[in-house]
Amino acid sequence: MRLGCIDLESNVLLAPMAGYCDLGFRVAVRGLGGVGLAHTDLLSSHGMAAGECKTLRLMRTCREDHPLSVQLFGGDAAIMAQAARMAVDHGAEVIDINMGCPVEKVTKRNGGAAWLCDPCGAVRLAEAVVRSVEVPVTVKVRLGPDENHLVAPMMAGMFAEAGVAALTVHGRTTAQRFGGQVNLEGITEVVAAAGGLPVFGNGDIKTPHDAATMIARTGCSGVMIGRGALREPWLIRDTSVYLHTGQIPPPPSLEERVALMMRHFERLLEDVGERRACHVMRQRIGWYAKTLGPCRALKEQMRRVRTETELRGYIAEFLDDGMLCAKAPGSQTKAVD
Ligand SMILES: Cc1cc2nc3c(=O)[nH]c(=O)nc-3n(C[C@H](O)[C@H](O)[C@H](O)COP(=O)(O)O)c2cc1C
Repeated sequence: MRLGCIDLESNVLLAPMAGYCDLGFRVAVRGLGGVGLAHTDLLSSHGMAAGECKTLRLMRTCREDHPLSVQLFGGDAAIMAQAARMAVDHGAEVIDINMGCPVEKVTKRNGGAAWLCDPCGAVRLAEAVVRSVEVPVTVKVRLGPDENHLVAPMMAGMFAEAGVAALTVHGRTTAQRFGGQVNLEGITEVVAAAGGLPVFGNGDIKTPHDAATMIARTGCSGVMIGRGALREPWLIRDTSVYLHTGQIPPPPSLEERVALMMRHFERLLEDVGERRACHVMRQRIGWYAKTLGPCRALKEQMRRVRTETELRGYIAEFLDDGMLCAKAPGSQTKAVD
């Protein structure tokens, strides 16, 4: 699949998730294969335009981190355009404009989902960003502010005319936040109105079959996966393989799962140092633990981890216990709680 001038390995995208799409995670998931495009966390256009260290740190990238989409939010077209140029100078190959974030910190600055209340202003902003950079510009929206104002289909046609390269639609309204069901009919209407503009469907994809259903029911060009990839980092690879071959690869072993978590940690160590890397792993163990089998002791240890040595010790202990348990007569589980 192509996005403007960029060839994508697949039509399955890793969603932007603030606080979760760090460089280490992106590189670890990309290493499994099948990622068409990965996104950064959403970044403030003001922070980017002002060259704030924190914002620039969040968009650090590396050789294995391609193609990369940098997601920006903001309420001012000129600043968004300036921030987009800076992001491109720092390695962004795609600029994504966030027009779906319902969080007050973002909407009170007229960014994110606030744009769904001003469709014409949203399109003018997208146009300004498209004009300011040579890379493809995409937009991520929800269906509308609430169920009585499903503006995304109308906006899709206008974005296409403004030169936007693709649109992602989270099939919920701002008012829904993460509640209720994803509205596949709503996404279908966006696809129908988009006049050939590629549309990526998003929301609640937990299995490769969910992705296939979303594509079949809505006609979208591809899918974007968020929480499903936090829970199961192999989901993007599996979905990509399934969409292309109809087969789902065998599940990873416990050792492969732990190795992925360690690759994430080691990339963080290089990128942000021991203190911050341990902090991130303390936060992420809850997601990783969901697929590690019984691992209560590991979870408790990791929630307190402060150093690389401690972390490696906990992991070694966990794997040793798993092997002992697997060797025990009559044992069926690979790890002990
Ligand atoms: C922790 C978290 C952080 C998120 N941060 C962003 C963000 O920075 N930008 C954005 O466009 N969407 C963000 N989202 C929304 C996701 O990109 C996605 O649209 C939503 O989670 C629905 O997809 P899913 O069901 O596959 O997770 C975030 C979601 C979560 C759970």
